Amino acid sequence: MQMITGDQIATIVFVIETIVFISIMIGWIYGSKRMDYDTHHRMIYPAVLIHLITVSAWMIPRAMQLAEEGLFADPIANWYQIVHDVVGFVAIGLGVVLAVTFLVKSGMPLNILQKAKPLMWLTLALWLVSFILGIIAYLARF
Ligand code: HEM
Repeated sequence: MQMITGDQIATIVFVIETIVFISIMIGWIYGSKRMDYDTHHRMIYPAVLIHLITVSAWMIPRAMQLAEEGLFADPIANWYQIVHDVVGFVAIGLGVVLAVTFLVKSGMPLNILQKAKPLMWLTLALWLVSFILGIIAYLARF
């Protein structure tokens, strides 16, 4: 039986992450912008969950492998990967905190929503930065 290669996994992860990012954009454009919070939640919660799986199962082990192989020996050449990892951790951290907060405090209390909104923008911006750098990291494989 033929083994699946790292490049093939990277391609699958790249496609999944693209779908995840599109889902987040749909959640924003068709959900929160139109005050259709059901659509927003239906898009965001699975996206955060699937993203957590790809990062834990693929990206973190791969980041450890790259670190062993000398990622930090030439930080200037590998800047996009290092920035991707750091920004990515912050984006996920914020995404999980937001998702858990609204799962625990159901009914979207207005005071929490007001405090959370700037954090949602920050999460989206950092997510976009990490996604773009992830695309660069993916292209750099080939
Ligand atoms: C919002 C957060 C993140 C997004 C949107 C994201 C997105 C992506 C995408 C699209 C890829 C390209 C597919 C691939 O090459 O496998 C990728 C690769 C990668 N990501 Fe992330 N990622 C995020 C967070 C993280 C975190 C927290 C880490 C952990 C250190 C990480 C480490 C990596 C590594 C090591 C690769 C593979 C690079 C390679 O093998 O060439 N990412 N990421």
